[in-house]
Amino acid sequence: MSRVLTGIQSSGHPHLGNLLGAIRPALQLADAQAEPAFLFIADLHALTTIHSPHQLRENTYAVAAAWLAMGLNPHRHVFFRQSDVPEVCELTWYLGCLTPYPMLANAHSFKEKSTHLSKVSAGLFTYPVLMAADILLYQADLVPVGKDQKQHLEITRDIANAFNRVYGEIFRLPEPVFQEETMVLPGIDGRKMSKSYGNTLEPLGDLEELYRQVRRIVTDSTPVDAPKDPEKCTIFKLYSVLAPPDAVEEMRQRYLRGGYGYGQAKEALYEVLRTSFATERQAYHQWRADPAGLEAILREGAEKAREEAQKTLQLVRQAVGLSASSSVVKT
Ligand code: ADP
Ligand code: TRP
Repeated sequence: MSRVLTGIQSSGHPHLGNLLGAIRPALQLADAQAEPAFLFIADLHALTTIHSPHQLRENTYAVAAAWLAMGLNPHRHVFFRQSDVPEVCELTWYLGCLTPYPMLANAHSFKEKSTHLSKVSAGLFTYPVLMAADILLYQADLVPVGKDQKQHLEITRDIANAFNRVYGEIFRLPEPVFQEETMVLPGIDGRKMSKSYGNTLEPLGDLEELYRQVRRIVTDSTPVDAPKDPEKCTIFKLYSVLAPPDAVEEMRQRYLRGGYGYGQAKEALYEVLRTSFATERQAYHQWRADPAGLEAILREGAEKAREEAQKTLQLVRQAVGLSASSSVVKT
C-alpha cells in the first residue's frame, strides 16, 4: 500500500503545463493506488510570492477548481488546503531545528529565485523545510512532482533521515515520482511555459482569451509558401502533445510540404485545445461559480488531513521531548 501525496502552489491560474505536467499525472498515480492520496493546494508556499489577499484567495479557488475539473474525486482522496492544517507550521519548526543552514543557502531554487528578487524573505529561504513538513506530516510514500522539484525531495529525505537518526524512526522516507515522459511544454514565447514569464495557455479558462493566447504564439517569419521545420515550432510542439497521432503526422507533412501558414496551424491548435478540454472546462466553470461548494469540499478534506497530522505530531512532540499532547488541539 502506497500513500501518494502532492501539492500545487496557488501562485496563479493553472496553465497547460500544470494540467499536463502535474495535475493529470498525479491523479493517474493517485487513482492507481488502493490507499487514498493526499492532494493539496499549497497556499502557504504561495505566500512567498503573492502578497495580495484577494489574489491569493482567487488563485486558491482556481487551483481547487482545476483539480476537481481534471477528475479528482474528493470522496476517494483527501483534498485540502495546506493552511487549513496549522500542524504543518509546527512541524516546520521542529524540522528547521535539524536542517543545516548551508543546505538551504545552496538550494538551486533559492539561489535562482533570490538572484531575481529585490527583496529576499526568510519564507523563501525556509520554503523547502515547509515542503518537507508537508510530506513528512502525512507519512507519504510517493510524491509525484516535476523535475524542478528534485532537490526539494532530496532535502526532504535528508531532513527525515537526520530526524530519524537523532530521535528514532518516526518518519517514512518518501520517494519522488518524476514524469519522465512529459516534455517541458513551451509557452507562447517559446520559453518554458510558466506563470512567472506570462507566456501561458489556459485551456480551462475563457475561450476568447484562449484564442488570443494561441494567436500570440511567437513564430519565425518563414513565408506561407515555404516548407517549415515542425520541430522548431512552438505551435507544432504543443499540437503534438494534444492531438491524435495521425493528425500530428498530417500537420508535420503540411509543414514540410510548404503552403501551410502558421496562422492555419494556430487555428488547428486552438481547435484541439477547445475540444480536448471541453468537459473539464465546463466543470471548471461550474466550480468557479460555486465557492461555497469548494469550501465545503476543502473543509471536509482538512478534517481528514488534520486527524492524520495530529497523529504524526503527537509522535514528534514526544520524540523531541515536549509534552505530547498539550498543544494538540482536537477538532
Ligand atoms: P510555474 O512555472 O508556472 O510557476 P509551477 O512551478 O507552479 O509553475 O508548476 C507546478 C508544477 O507544474 C511543476 O512542478 C511541474 O510539474 C508542472 N509544470 C509547470 N510548468 C510546466 C511546463 N511548462 N511543462 C510541464 N510541466 C510543467
Ligand atoms: N514546491 C512545489 C512546487 O512548486 C509545491 C509543493 C509544496 C509540493 N509542497 C509540496 C509538491 C509537497 C509536492 C509535495 O511545485
